[in-house]
Amino acid sequence: MLHMLIPVQRQGPALMIHQLVYYSRNTVPGGDRAMLTNMREILSVSQRNNSRDGITGFLIFDKTHFVQILEGDRAKVTETYTRIARDSRHSAAAIINVRDVEARLFPNWTMGGAMRTPEVQEVYLQHGFGGPLEPSRLKSEQIIRLALDLQAFEVSRRQGQRLAS
Ligand SMILES: Cc1cc2nc3c(=O)[nH]c(=O)nc-3n(C[C@H](O)[C@H](O)[C@H](O)COP(=O)(O)O)c2cc1C
Repeated sequence: MLHMLIPVQRQGPALMIHQLVYYSRNTVPGGDRAMLTNMREILSVSQRNNSRDGITGFLIFDKTHFVQILEGDRAKVTETYTRIARDSRHSAAAIINVRDVEARLFPNWTMGGAMRTPEVQEVYLQHGFGGPLEPSRLKSEQIIRLALDLQAFEVSRRQGQRLAS
């Protein structure tokens, strides 16, 4: 009965990255231009704080909603989400899903962001989103797939710009 003395090994690597997906209602006033200015500010503060806290992720937004993915240490993700949820630039923040994952999906972005513009409409269409996003009806997997493709689109757009200049 020797085998009974052998401790059971945990299978696979430990799940150490906490991932939180939420959506909220965008209350940033103004038209496209004012919104872009506000968003640049939000993203720059986010990038500063998130690099300090080891948080990465992606923020998708249009005039009506924000949908954000946060990943990192569990306590830091919770702390960051709690701070974000109190921000008056949006309302009714609601968590869609939290889970632990083996690796970050957005390792290179202390917070990437993509506004829904005509330029990225083709990415939305590829995911079956012709009309406005209705995040309350979305599963976190759909959001993550969309964010990964928006991220890839942004990376290739930047590379194109670099080649062109
Ligand atoms: C939609 C949205 C997403 C945000 N995402 C982040 C984020 O990822 N990280 C962060 O630190 N702040 C984020 N913020 C800003 C926070 O709400 C808050 O203003 C900021 O963390 C305060 O930083 P400070 O205490 O360094 O001034 C976000 C705000 C909004 C409206």
